[in-house]
Amino acid sequence: MTGPLLEVKDLTKTFGGIRAVDGLSFAVAPGAITGIIGPNGAGKTTVFNLVTGVYRPDAGSIDFEGRSLLGIRPDQIVGAGIARTFQNIRLFNRRTCLENVLTPLLQKAPYSVPAALLRTPGVRRMDRELREKSRFLLAEMGLEKLADVQASALPYGLQRKLEIARALAMEPRLLLLDEPAAGMNPEESRALSALIEEIRERFNQTILLIEHHMDVVMRVCSHIVVMNFGALLAEGPPEKVRTDEKVLQAYLGKEYRNA
Ligand SMILES: Nc1ncnc2c1ncn2[C@@H]1O[C@H](COP(=O)(O)OP(=O)(O)O)[C@@H](O)[C@H]1O
Ligand SMILES: [Mg+2]
Repeated sequence: MTGPLLEVKDLTKTFGGIRAVDGLSFAVAPGAITGIIGPNGAGKTTVFNLVTGVYRPDAGSIDFEGRSLLGIRPDQIVGAGIARTFQNIRLFNRRTCLENVLTPLLQKAPYSVPAALLRTPGVRRMDRELREKSRFLLAEMGLEKLADVQASALPYGLQRKLEIARALAMEPRLLLLDEPAAGMNPEESRALSALIEEIRERFNQTILLIEHHMDVVMRVCSHIVVMNFGALLAEGPPEKVRTDEKVLQAYLGKEYRNA
């Protein structure tokens, strides 16, 4: 494929009087790690909610692999190849780490209800394969020893990794990560950066990443989209965005202007 994997054009979403996303356009190149940054309330999570079909845009287009995603249900969008993690972690708290990854896989396993009820050999084999796949993904995230631990017992940083394992289990062609380093200390967020780069390489995974930790964004992203008040403030490679006057002002605000 030569064009962008994801292309958003003139995207707008208002809530009451607030333009959460305001005429935003950007593209995600296949195989790349693209970052979305911007101050709190800039509209970053709303972009994810629009791309994943949680909200319908008021205007604009969202194309994935050249096809429009408008009007497509969230579960169909997962099926189309887009999986995500959430800024506010959403796990099955009372289930184990293994179950958190396995359950959505079992839900979309392609066997019939009678076959499942009878636990035919085919069903048993597929369950075994899905279980192995789940363990493999937990291991990739460094969670293999915690497979049987309840999700709620994990510290935040590990819960975020578990969410990534669950999203990867969907075998997405586009992985959306909403502030994966939130709640992590500098050392943990450095390790997460390395892990995200590794995911891109090992799974040849295209990633769109919302992140507050600048060190993570600058290290892993090849292209950065900067949002402010729902609109595009700047975009480009890290070295360009880092020194952009408008970006510095949006981040450092009054202090910067007074300096
Ligand atoms: N469901 C909603 N209802 C009303 N306002 C919302 C809703 N979702 C987001 N907003 C508003 O839209 C703006 C952008 O929010 P959000 O996309 O969460 O920003 P970010 O992720 O960049 O911090 C904020 O002003 C927020 O309060
Ligand atoms: Mg957000």
